[in-house]
Amino acid sequence: AVMAAPNEKADRVDTIAHRGASGYAPENTMAAFRKAVKMKADYIEIDVQATKDGKLVVIHDNTVDRTTDGTGKVSSFTLDEIRQLDAGSFFGPDFAGERIPTFDEVLDEFRGKTGILIELKSPELYPGIEEQVAAALSERNMDKPANEKIIVQSFNFDSIKTFHELLPAVPVGVLTSNKNDLTDEKLAEFATYADYVNPTQKLVTEELVNRIHDLGMQISVWTVRKPEEVEPLLKAGVDDIITDYPDYVPRNK
Ligand code: G3P
Ligand code: CA
Repeated sequence: AVMAAPNEKADRVDTIAHRGASGYAPENTMAAFRKAVKMKADYIEIDVQATKDGKLVVIHDNTVDRTTDGTGKVSSFTLDEIRQLDAGSFFGPDFAGERIPTFDEVLDEFRGKTGILIELKSPELYPGIEEQVAAALSERNMDKPANEKIIVQSFNFDSIKTFHELLPAVPVGVLTSNKNDLTDEKLAEFATYADYVNPTQKLVTEELVNRIHDLGMQISVWTVRKPEEVEPLLKAGVDDIITDYPDYVPRNK
């Protein structure tokens, strides 16, 4: 590839709306995802977990306490029960009545409108979730990267390896906030299955970006919540910026 001038780098970076445009609407709701599409985000990022009856739902925390009017573990609710919770009012009265989305409805509404970065959140709590996510993608023909912008990521590297073995054509990423995961040795191991190494922004340097690129991988960085955080990441040469505020990032071409 031809070396890009800094402004060209800025034009090429992809914007990923973290839990949707979660600075402007309640995280991981259809309202936040629709807002992200309106703001022309290249991807939405979603956190996937499972209910007591094994249905895939989109929520970040392992409990419903922070983001809904209910209490208890996600895994203690059936789908019917969890769908009755209000997942919008915590953010503001305008969003009262927003529901915890199902994974299926997010795929069906947003495929083709924006990319989807799927995080397997705490997959160790949900044995078999890799197969379930893979099946949901396959049955929609979304396991063909030429047709779809889909990436699957997790902090759980074993889970990501398992998913990669199930659907090798779908790009996968490893998430980390641990500096010890970014040694040459660890990066070389990630490169055997992963397409992305996605660290917290505190760990990002131009040198790290170059080491990841030299191994043929890309780097998506999280979580930008201040406008001034963008420029240093563009300078370092990151591929994607994961942010609650998609409008903080220069639009890609
Ligand atoms: O996409 C990266 C980011 O979502 C990882 O952290 O806690 O927001 O899921 P968290
Ligand atoms: Ca996440």
